[in-house]
Amino acid sequence: MAKRYLSGIQPSGLLHLGNYFGAIRKHVQNQDDAFYFIANYHALTTVQDRDQLRRNTFDVAATYLACGLDPHRAVLYRQSDVPEVCELMWLLMTVTGAGLLEKGVSFKDKKARGIQASAGLLTYPVLQAADILAVDAQVVPVGSDQVQHIEFARDMAQSFNHLYGEVFVLPGFELGTPQPVPGIDGQKMSKSYGNHIPIFLHGKALKKRVMAIVTDSKGVEDSKDPTTCTVFQLYSLLASEAERQEMAERYRAGGYGYGHAKLALLEKIDAFFGPMRERREEYDRHPDLVEDVLADGAKRAREVARATTDRARAACGLA
Ligand code: ADP
Ligand code: TRP
Repeated sequence: MAKRYLSGIQPSGLLHLGNYFGAIRKHVQNQDDAFYFIANYHALTTVQDRDQLRRNTFDVAATYLACGLDPHRAVLYRQSDVPEVCELMWLLMTVTGAGLLEKGVSFKDKKARGIQASAGLLTYPVLQAADILAVDAQVVPVGSDQVQHIEFARDMAQSFNHLYGEVFVLPGFELGTPQPVPGIDGQKMSKSYGNHIPIFLHGKALKKRVMAIVTDSKGVEDSKDPTTCTVFQLYSLLASEAERQEMAERYRAGGYGYGHAKLALLEKIDAFFGPMRERREEYDRHPDLVEDVLADGAKRAREVARATTDRARAACGLA
């Protein structure tokens, strides 16, 4: 029996190459008996504009489908269509130390960047734990920034089980890439840092973005170190091993400028995401197709979440 995968992505902006290689690619590779959802409850901690939230939610769903998620294999749903997770969150809050949440990396990070810390932001990892535990997920494929949240979920499941018996399955994680995917400034790619390359950017806008990738100031003739170069790192995600080796040799040999490498990267992005972009555009013309998938996903996910929540209620004496 395949392990049960679950993961969520917040609808808080256009998805980018970091999201694709850090998360979505792995989701599409592990679809059987899997649950993937659009974390719109979580997004409310940062997106507080109704129309924007709706638009983004549709965009994430359509992007998943365009990237190859097959709704006959995996369950694709909107988090808010499974309100059981909020109920489960409360039960988990009662076994979670308040101090633990203050150590949450995303809470600390957002606070450090001056984003006002609501109680929602603080308790965000508990809702994430509820998402995971609600469907008895065994593996959560995410980028490295999310590892702490999965460990929190595991801790919460353990605490609850310790008190009330074996109610929850203990989840683990799998990383999409060993290192975070770098953005155009060399830092971790993130929509909140404004250094991202959206998956479906194309034409002039994509070219401008790729050309803006920061490199050192070595001239065309100089020998260059591929391992420290953002252009090479991004190219490596898209190229075959042979192509990667070839570019590394060109870097080292000299006579190959960053401009050349950027054009090679641009070509790869276009070739890789072009067909997905066309499918994505198809969903703009037929939004009902996406809605139908989400409605069906909601039904299937909710059934599982209801059963787990009932199990937890009974275990702690609510039933
Ligand atoms: P962002 O940082 O742009 O807001 P999210 O936090 O919404 O991205 O991330 C959604 C998923 O994509 C998570 O699983 C996260 O770990 C993964 N992810 C995001 N950025 C990167 C990156 N630069 N490298 C690898 N994975 C990433
Ligand atoms: N916090 C995750 C992120 O920002 C999104 C998320 C919400 C999630 N619930 C989840 C990821 C459950 C994995 C499992 O990327």
